[in-house]
Amino acid sequence: LVVDVNTSTAKVDPNMWGVFFEDINMGADGGIYAELIKNRSFEFFRPMMGWKNLGAVREGNYLILNRQLNSEANPRYLRVLKESTDKQPIGLRNEGFRGMGVKQGNTYEFSLWYRQKSPGITVRVELVDSQGAVIGKSELKPSQNNNQWQYQEVSFTSSKTDHKATLQVWFDGDGSIDLDMISLFPTDTWKGRKKGLRADMVQTLADLKPGFIRFPGGCIVEGFDLSQRFQWKKTVGPIESRQLIVNRWNTEFAHRLTPDYFQTSGLGFYEYFLLAEDLGAEPLPILNCGMACQFNTGEVVPLDQLDEYVQDALDLIEFANGSVNSTWGKLRADMGHPAPFNLKMLGVGNENWGPQYVERLKVFQDALKKYHPEIKIIASSGTDPEGARFDYLDKELRAMNIDIIDEHFYRNPEWFLSNAKRYDKYDRTGPKIFAGEYASHSKNNKKPEYRNNWEAALSEAAFLTGVERNADVVQLASYAPLFAHIDGWQWTPDLIWVDNLNVFVTPSYHVQKMYSTNKGTDVVPLLRDGKMLAGEDNLYGSAVVDKNTKELVLKIINTGESQEILNIDLKGIKKSSGEAEVSVLQHDDPLAHNEVGQAPSVSPINSKVNYKGKKLPYTLKAKSVNLIKIKL
Ligand code: AHR
Repeated sequence: LVVDVNTSTAKVDPNMWGVFFEDINMGADGGIYAELIKNRSFEFFRPMMGWKNLGAVREGNYLILNRQLNSEANPRYLRVLKESTDKQPIGLRNEGFRGMGVKQGNTYEFSLWYRQKSPGITVRVELVDSQGAVIGKSELKPSQNNNQWQYQEVSFTSSKTDHKATLQVWFDGDGSIDLDMISLFPTDTWKGRKKGLRADMVQTLADLKPGFIRFPGGCIVEGFDLSQRFQWKKTVGPIESRQLIVNRWNTEFAHRLTPDYFQTSGLGFYEYFLLAEDLGAEPLPILNCGMACQFNTGEVVPLDQLDEYVQDALDLIEFANGSVNSTWGKLRADMGHPAPFNLKMLGVGNENWGPQYVERLKVFQDALKKYHPEIKIIASSGTDPEGARFDYLDKELRAMNIDIIDEHFYRNPEWFLSNAKRYDKYDRTGPKIFAGEYASHSKNNKKPEYRNNWEAALSEAAFLTGVERNADVVQLASYAPLFAHIDGWQWTPDLIWVDNLNVFVTPSYHVQKMYSTNKGTDVVPLLRDGKMLAGEDNLYGSAVVDKNTKELVLKIINTGESQEILNIDLKGIKKSSGEAEVSVLQHDDPLAHNEVGQAPSVSPINSKVNYKGKKLPYTLKAKSVNLIKIKL
């Protein structure tokens, strides 16, 4: 094997390895968005979903009112009516999203919006553990009497750690009070931001050092039908005036076990941009192109009514980059970020295909190139990397000279192995490629050992040697989907699994991290007998040098059943002897996987190997992913 450190065959885009975030598998609400109350604004299909009566509730104590005409975004609220004759306590229990994960010693902020003509009712809250014991409490005394909506909050500390706590909200005294946006957040959020994100989940993303974050989907961009498409303008501004919509992955549409899956938009476009900034990643929003999910209704907006969609795209650029004196730039500033977010790329459509897509994309392209030629457009190539649909779109998108084409692959491990050469023959003069969603499906099975096993990760690692080797054409790459909650997922495999308090990374996560944190600046040739390592004898490989850190990085994958002994010729390296840092992922069992609450069965093992006379002896274990780093 020979690696030649002085011959650069391609430049690696510094942002090449990123992440794709979609609110699927309780990724946002019930996941990274740290709100603990489910259905805080009573907007779920059934207004009291997530809430149960407590105490001596009688007919008439609670009313759900709908002010549709005055508040399209957040129409419903709760009226609590208590007579002086209602002597017994009454209350409501919120079950959280599969319970509430709370931590001993952590402080929680309970808040609500209320309206009343005169003070009378005191709101008493109790955090209750899974055995029914009170582990935190506080009292909120609404004092305003002008019948105007008013925000108030109190905080308390939990005396215990519990995965499945609930919140009891008691109404003491008597009178009438209107309540909305009943909310409970931990204070140990990412960067301590109020009503922010789960720090452990964000940290797991930060550890990947992602170059970009694609958001908010995925199919949720498209919606089951157009009325349920993701509309970014409804997700910005004060959270109490953002619009809740049903999640595309709700049982209603996805036939999976999540009838309570809705999007509060608490994690909205402002928060996504902020997250990108925190992670040092380029923001990569995807917008609806005027088409609903083609796997479902396939509803499309008539071409003569596409203006609103195109305007959304232009306004989004203003929101992200515009001056604080512009309408949308001002909103960004009012929300706390006067500096621009520096948006450079925008996706139009997710997994859309056919002539309907091309027609609509052209309208977007004309407008975006006219008003914002600085923004790179990312177009979808549908879902099938081989079929006639793909060929048709690929041809059309290339003819349109679109900037970047987004390809998605959900295939079996064999496909990933045989596609390690996929990009070797791609046209170097046309659009760049975004490998936007890929995940190897070992078997479509709900059992943990098939969700994210070693066999899948190994085949992804092999495929990614081909992606890295072709970094001149593949500009961006991201695994999908990112998160799954162990008690509420719809889709497997997923990169990172969580419960209410913990994060568990998969073998695929370690593979992604190997690439994203060792991306280098230049691809260099790694050859055996003058040929690339692209599957012969079950070996796959790629090499990069990092001109900033002055390192050579080899990634070599052995998918075979037996070990391979290599002698690597380090051509062009300065020192004739020295030490290589090695990190290996390995398992003999293709079904090995990391499971919630158990010690991981696949994680990197680090060691050092010496080289002499510019030759590195190295033994590749069977079924192993090897990262070898050498100072140049
Ligand atoms: O990642 C899950 C889904 O897979 C995405 O929403 C969609 O883009 C793809 O089909």
